Amino acid sequence: MVYRLLFGFLLPLVLQPSLVLCNPPELKVGFYQYTCPYAEVIVRDEIARIISHVPSLAGPLLRMHFHDCFVNGCDGSILLDSIPGLPSEKESEPNLSLRGFGTIDLVKAKLEQACPGVVSCADILALVARDVVLLTHGPYWNVPTGRRDGLRSVKDEALNNLPPPFFDATRNLNQFFVPKGLDAKDQVVLLGGHTLGTSHCSSFSDRLYNFSGTQMPDPALDRRYVLRLKSKCRPGDTTALVEMDPGSFRTFDASYYRHVARGRALFTSDETLMLDPFTRDYVLRQASVAAAGGYPAEFFADFVASMVKMGNMQVLTGAQGEVRRRCGAVNQMRM
Ligand SMILES: *[C@@H]1O[C@H](CO)[C@@H](O)[C@H](O)[C@H]1NC(C)=O
Ligand SMILES: *[C@@H]1O[C@H](CO)[C@@H](O)[C@H](O)[C@H]1NC(C)=O
Repeated sequence: MVYRLLFGFLLPLVLQPSLVLCNPPELKVGFYQYTCPYAEVIVRDEIARIISHVPSLAGPLLRMHFHDCFVNGCDGSILLDSIPGLPSEKESEPNLSLRGFGTIDLVKAKLEQACPGVVSCADILALVARDVVLLTHGPYWNVPTGRRDGLRSVKDEALNNLPPPFFDATRNLNQFFVPKGLDAKDQVVLLGGHTLGTSHCSSFSDRLYNFSGTQMPDPALDRRYVLRLKSKCRPGDTTALVEMDPGSFRTFDASYYRHVARGRALFTSDETLMLDPFTRDYVLRQASVAAAGGYPAEFFADFVASMVKMGNMQVLTGAQGEVRRRCGAVNQMRM
């Protein structure tokens, strides 16, 4: 009896040493240093090559890491294709602005050539996010790695976990950020990522034509900006793309805050940062740095800190999950 108890207890210890640890290992900078020494160089070179051909992918590639992390943790589940009977996160409404899946596949293919089965898709997303920010003249940071890939992706989880552009910032904060360990500062800082990229009209057109059912524009919006947006977005438009940081949507800088400060925020969630004293102060401070053409040292440092914090959300490490061979599908079951 004692023997069996001991044996039953020891066997898993011997076979699966990683399960012994009370806590799975944490992410660390340079996780692939020995297993795939050129991993980060391969990612950077491939992304640099792609962005030089298609600069407009920078915003979507940054956003993909964000979407991945908010839905069930940074586990690469955003990349999984649907399987019969189980629509994946990709199929969910908030996917509208997501592009760049092919880019991730290209990067993954290069890594598989160099070090088969070593670098996770979740880590690729985190490294790519860093690289597009750097390539568009934003800050550089060391990306902690060692994430493993999740085994499932569920459409409805995307709907319930991603802050929608039409909620106000307070509601987004309490409903989507705080439960994940992010705070008001992380929210105002991460929204600064809207300095890159474009949005579909549907994410904000009610602010132009029918704000809160009034059939009038959102009074918080600058009037001339409303006219400009209306000329780009006819009611019901589903195809046009509008720059989120007009004038510098391909440069990672603090100018997004200038637009927010002047009633030119595209989304309700951006606009309403002006209603809370803390986030308003933050916006105004960065706006004045941007207006003066200064180096946004505070925003860059904060952005790096919030990205690392976000990149740690509910990660799988150690023996959890797997390293996918192809980012679009979980590995075949091996018996
Ligand atoms: C986004 O979701 C819609 C359905 O909501 C789906 O038809 C479309 O294929 C999805 N886009 C991608 C890139 O998967
Ligand atoms: C405006 O919004 C209200 C409430 O959201 C809706 O009932 C109404 O049909 C909308 N009007 C138009 C013209 O879209």
